[in-house]
Amino acid sequence: DKDYLIAPSILSADFAMLGTEVDNVLEAGADVVHFDVMDNHYVPNLTIGPMVCKALRDHGVTAPIDVHLMVSPVDASIADFIDAGASFITFHPEATNHVDRSLQLIKAGGCKAGLVFNPATSLDICEMVKDKLDIILLMSVNPGFGGQAFIPATLDKARAARKFIDDNKLDCRLEIDGGVKVDNIKEVAEAGVDMMVAGSAILKAPRTVEAYKETIDAMRK
Ligand code: DX5
Ligand code: ZN
Repeated sequence: DKDYLIAPSILSADFAMLGTEVDNVLEAGADVVHFDVMDNHYVPNLTIGPMVCKALRDHGVTAPIDVHLMVSPVDASIADFIDAGASFITFHPEATNHVDRSLQLIKAGGCKAGLVFNPATSLDICEMVKDKLDIILLMSVNPGFGGQAFIPATLDKARAARKFIDDNKLDCRLEIDGGVKVDNIKEVAEAGVDMMVAGSAILKAPRTVEAYKETIDAMRK
């Protein structure tokens, strides 16, 4: 049996009670906290930064925090999130001038490193940095907002990424982000993805542990 990670995106949390939301979604069975960082420059939205990541650690969150950087440039934020207690840090290759250096910075800080690919971005660069990739993250929506519809062409891209990981025998997670729901997660898993982000599908009213658990259990099933 394969091990899958479910990573709720706190972009859809109630930010007025973020600590409770994260506690609840972890109690409901989430494996990882997906943390979306947007700078109103690389993407047309503005969210949360390293202070909030540090606050979750101080609150007592010990689960892995998966920091998805949608910022440009990236290197200063990498340093800040290493200090703030991030576990995984991923960034978009087009958002930095020096992809290899940015990956090295993440790994030197003791975090797992990954690249994020927009729907229209090719995976070609993976070949050049394959020894440094712990995660390949495929966007199945255009980054910037929660609640968008899954782009079906991502499934072919996932199969290609899975083949690349297996052919090269990489110890690398294949993550997907955007529009993942109970009714399409099986297809996503069958395409070779082993780490699923889901925001609006999980974090919604009534915002209780029981409701979150029901969705996460259904996704695992
Ligand atoms: C989009 C973010 C996603 C988003 C996913 O830019 O990277 O993590 O929160 O939200 P849903 O699951 O609602 O598409
Ligand atoms: Zn994300």
